[in-house]
Amino acid sequence: MAICEDRVIAHVDLDAFYAQVEMVRLGVDEEAPLCVQQWEGVIAVNYPARKRGVTRFDKAGEVKKKCPECILVHVEVLSEEQEQPKAKVSLARYREASARIFKLILREIERVERASIDEAYLDLTDMVKKRRGIRDNDENLSRASDSIILGEGLDPSRKDDLSLIIGSEITSDLRRMIREELGYTCSAGVAHNKTLAKLASAMNKPNCQTLVPNSCVQGLMEKLPFRKIRQLGGKLGGELEALGVETAAQVQCYNLEELSRRFGQKDAHFVFDIVRGIDRSEVVPRSKPKSMLAAKSLSGEQDWDGVNRWLRMLASELHDRMLFDEEVNVREARNLVISFKSGSVPRTTSKTLPMPRGQSNRLERMLKEMQSLLRNTPSFSFPIDFLGLTATNFEDKPADNESINKFLKPSAPGSHQAPIEKVQASKNENPGIKKWLLGPKAPPDPEKQAEELSQETADFLLAKKLQRDDDIEASRQYSTGKSGRAQLKKPRRGTIDSFLQKAPD
Ligand code: CTP
Ligand code: CA
Ligand code: CA
Repeated sequence: MAICEDRVIAHVDLDAFYAQVEMVRLGVDEEAPLCVQQWEGVIAVNYPARKRGVTRFDKAGEVKKKCPECILVHVEVLSEEQEQPKAKVSLARYREASARIFKLILREIERVERASIDEAYLDLTDMVKKRRGIRDNDENLSRASDSIILGEGLDPSRKDDLSLIIGSEITSDLRRMIREELGYTCSAGVAHNKTLAKLASAMNKPNCQTLVPNSCVQGLMEKLPFRKIRQLGGKLGGELEALGVETAAQVQCYNLEELSRRFGQKDAHFVFDIVRGIDRSEVVPRSKPKSMLAAKSLSGEQDWDGVNRWLRMLASELHDRMLFDEEVNVREARNLVISFKSGSVPRTTSKTLPMPRGQSNRLERMLKEMQSLLRNTPSFSFPIDFLGLTATNFEDKPADNESINKFLKPSAPGSHQAPIEKVQASKNENPGIKKWLLGPKAPPDPEKQAEELSQETADFLLAKKLQRDDDIEASRQYSTGKSGRAQLKKPRRGTIDSFLQKAPD
């Protein structure tokens, strides 16, 4: 039996996120197949297109062959040069949509941990406690009527199951608001911890939520390939695989001593618990980005002219975001990290510089220091395949403008607007490059910019991280070919088997 049954945690993940953003933006019919394309590749496939066999691993040409009526929308390109090597794509549309979604979630739920551009963990424990009223069992059960329930169902006379039911009601309300106010569908998992909630949110996509009662956890672990547990997808999972085990329950056969001998004490405890569905990790409320990254994959820049051009573009982009972040979040980045990949060196190298202090001339000072650092770095050799600049290690500044602080806080329930009157757009030191970065559109208004900045994670880093996800995870995300947006009228019992069968391993 899983512990931590006092807590109720939801994991919410948008369905085919980038594709939905384009559908809403372009007013595309819900049933129309649509993919988001980046150059020849496909980075998001909506559910109608998945139903016709399109996957994220298809090239744009293959998509058209499989599904001639599929709408292909290219991600935004931030340059007059529309060719891949010279142009930089922008994920700003998706960051902005993400910001709006998170603003809504924060309006309704206090403890929210942003896990990526399109997913969040919600700690519903306190809200559940407040909503627990006296109702009869049948009435309580009906509160989970639009959820799929794993295992043998729920017993509303049990405290842990009742908490889950109330958590599912809160999650369902939230999903409905996201749908009605912003137009996006999402899926959710509701469980007693983060790991189980995350597993469940992927089980019945799209537009559905799945509950994980404690009573089903051991049954789930019996059949669950341990690789599906997010934290066991990487190196640790690889080491476990070497033991010749496949399911979480098979890993349960190893006691703590045996696991400690192989993995060390800390990892052993973690593995021991997680394969039993035990996860004590907290939902960490977080809405400010930990770092800001501007990066570009290059096709082998051969000389300083090319590298300097990219350094300037990336530094300008980063600097723009920093200026606004300084105003809105009342803090300053202390470090600047330059990452690069030389053709001759297989790994990415990162070097850290103190961030030049003070805003005056800072962009120029950043550039000068970066260039001098790179010139003195022996491993920096042409051709260069990747450049990334990260502003990190933020320190709070003494607050001098209360209205800006207020601006960041979620608005009160029922009110959709944060106070913005006193927030000024940042002064830009390089209008030419700003124009280039913003493309032909008018600069976004301060509210939009602030929303984006306050919520933004490093989208590029996210894409990189997601790309590194192992094949099992990727095929899981893209193999759930279930379609249709209809909500269930009655509680449904979900078979764990059907989820497990969906994922080719
Ligand atoms: N993404 C990406 N590169 C990847 C994986 C994902 O650019 N290697 C983008 C996708 O375009 C996606 C968003 O990040 O829309 C969120 O990813 P994810 O939740 O994994 O997939 P979804 O497309 O949202 O699909 P699902 O409904 O399965 O969650
Ligand atoms: Ca998603
Ligand atoms: Ca996701």
